[in-house]
Amino acid sequence: MTLPSYAMNQTSFPEMYERWLVGPLFQPWAELTLDEVRLSPGDSILDIACGTGIVARMARERLGAGGSVVGIDISPDMLAVARTVAPDIDWREGDAAALPLREGERFDVVVCQQGLQFFPDKPAAAAQMRRALGQGGRLAVATWRSDEGNPFFRELRRIAESHVGAIVDQRYGFGDAAALEALLRDAGFRDVRQGRYPASSASRMAWFSCA
Ligand SMILES: C[S@@+](CC[C@H](N)C(=O)[O-])C[C@H]1O[C@@H](n2cnc3c(N)ncnc32)[C@H](O)[C@@H]1O
Repeated sequence: MTLPSYAMNQTSFPEMYERWLVGPLFQPWAELTLDEVRLSPGDSILDIACGTGIVARMARERLGAGGSVVGIDISPDMLAVARTVAPDIDWREGDAAALPLREGERFDVVVCQQGLQFFPDKPAAAAQMRRALGQGGRLAVATWRSDEGNPFFRELRRIAESHVGAIVDQRYGFGDAAALEALLRDAGFRDVRQGRYPASSASRMAWFSCA
């Protein structure tokens, strides 16, 4: 079958994600996420569900040559963009519920920005985050809150639903504070605390914890 010419060289979703979403949306969040884990020179950091790699890339910028950074994602297509943008970072394909870590490999900091809500087995993923952290390590997890608290996205969904019926949007599917805290505590994390960003809005929730 011959494809119409407009389908040739189409930009892929990961390329569009990197080009249009990372700068205005995910990069500012990455700044906040990394502020919370307070990186120190020489830290090692693991970015789970790294996507095209914005958190890992900013961590490397903050750490400089002394630190080490690994990014893991289940999507080879997202990783392909990450590798193009930052070929010198250690990008690995793998499932958050079965992290591809080396024998005895542990990190000072683990981050998971806007990934946890998509994992089918959240307890397994939380256990893997715990496993990946060394003694005294720090974890930061960020997820969207429910879109009921975000008028812009809520109204977009309602308009779409008036045409196509009920929509289950995974992006906002794990924004319940109590459930997220219980998940992390059950996995063995302590000193669990949360923040909401921006503080005046209900749009984003983040959890920070020590192992
Ligand atoms: C909204 S993107 C967030 C990417 C990145 N953390 C950021 O802040 O730009 C969600 C990412 O989760 C990844 N993901 C979904 N399920 C996963 C799983 N089970 N294990 C690892 N990554 C997964 C997707 O491939 C996607 O790259």
